[in-house]
Amino acid sequence: MVNFLFLALFIAITPLANAQLHFLAVAAGKEYFGTATDNPELSDSAYVTQLSNTTDFNQITPGNSMKWDATEPSRGIFTFSGGDAIAAQATKNGQLVRGHNCVWHNQLPAWVTNGNFDNATLTSIVQNHCSTLVAHYKGKIALVSWDVINEPFNDDGTFRTSVFFNTMGTSYIQVALNAARAADPGAKLYINDFNIEGTGAKSTAMLNLVKSLKSSGVPIDGVGIQAHLIVGQVPSTIQANLAQFATLGIEVAITELDIRMTLPSTAALLAQQRKDYQTVIAACKATKACVGVTVWDWTDKYSWIPGTFSGQGAACPWDENLVKKPAYDGIVAGFTT
Ligand SMILES: *[C@@H]1O[C@H](CO)[C@@H](O)[C@H](O)[C@H]1NC(C)=O
Ligand SMILES: *[C@@H]1O[C@H](CO)[C@@H](O)[C@H](O)[C@H]1NC(C)=O
Repeated sequence: MVNFLFLALFIAITPLANAQLHFLAVAAGKEYFGTATDNPELSDSAYVTQLSNTTDFNQITPGNSMKWDATEPSRGIFTFSGGDAIAAQATKNGQLVRGHNCVWHNQLPAWVTNGNFDNATLTSIVQNHCSTLVAHYKGKIALVSWDVINEPFNDDGTFRTSVFFNTMGTSYIQVALNAARAADPGAKLYINDFNIEGTGAKSTAMLNLVKSLKSSGVPIDGVGIQAHLIVGQVPSTIQANLAQFATLGIEVAITELDIRMTLPSTAALLAQQRKDYQTVIAACKATKACVGVTVWDWTDKYSWIPGTFSGQGAACPWDENLVKKPAYDGIVAGFTT
């Protein structure tokens, strides 16, 4: 009896002390818990040790090295060394990879942006880029999915202007998706965006896009919800919003989760951040179609936030010394309660 009580107490207490995010995600019916990473970080051995800890992370997303500027810096000249290094890291550890990404308005080489191509020429450039990129990784990595289209919308739900939209109209979306499907028929194809965590104009625009692609027979398997969020401002409609996407018969995934704060971080902010991580994870847990969660790097040491949002940071579940923050326990609580 005493032993049994001791055991029960032990089991009740250990999840927080010794939790393992991927195991908890699987226990909650998900396929994976993962993290973004980037090539320069792979020379930090303490970082790589935890990146390789598959009880926490069994999926990784290359932060930059599969993007257009890295993979096709000159027209028709493909360079896969950076992406291949991330792929090798994943394969060594038996981790899944999210391909990221085929078509995005950012981090484009100048030859694409300033090429003054006509519609037909840019169509063939998009086709060639997506099919070459996706074909390169076919069978080379344990693929979780490809972000084929990244950030197609403005916050008001209108299509973002870009060299692709301006030249090809919305046809670039189907051109890229069709090329990716042809290159790797087994790959799950996603459209990925931010500020579609809660219901609203941008989320409605994404729903309508997916509906129209499906009704015209364009391949689309999932919507990636980036979830670059702000402490204290997680949309209250996040679960209802995930459910809306699920009704379209597609997957959803939380693809780039981080929750930033105005620095300096305080105990109160860290406690709110813990709650906010829990809210996001609980919404995914409650939505059968939500297949997994990826954080946009696991440590504040390599977070993109301070470099992009001046005065903000501390957005990740581990601090800059690679020590778990209350946010980590929030993820655990999201999966277990
Ligand atoms: C892997 O991660 C878990 C949970 O964070 C931790 O308890 C464990 O010690 C880690 N394993 C190694 C080898 O670092
Ligand atoms: C570009 O060409 C496609 C056909 O390949 C067409 O559907 C689309 O309307 C054209 N877009 C523009 C902006 O001309």
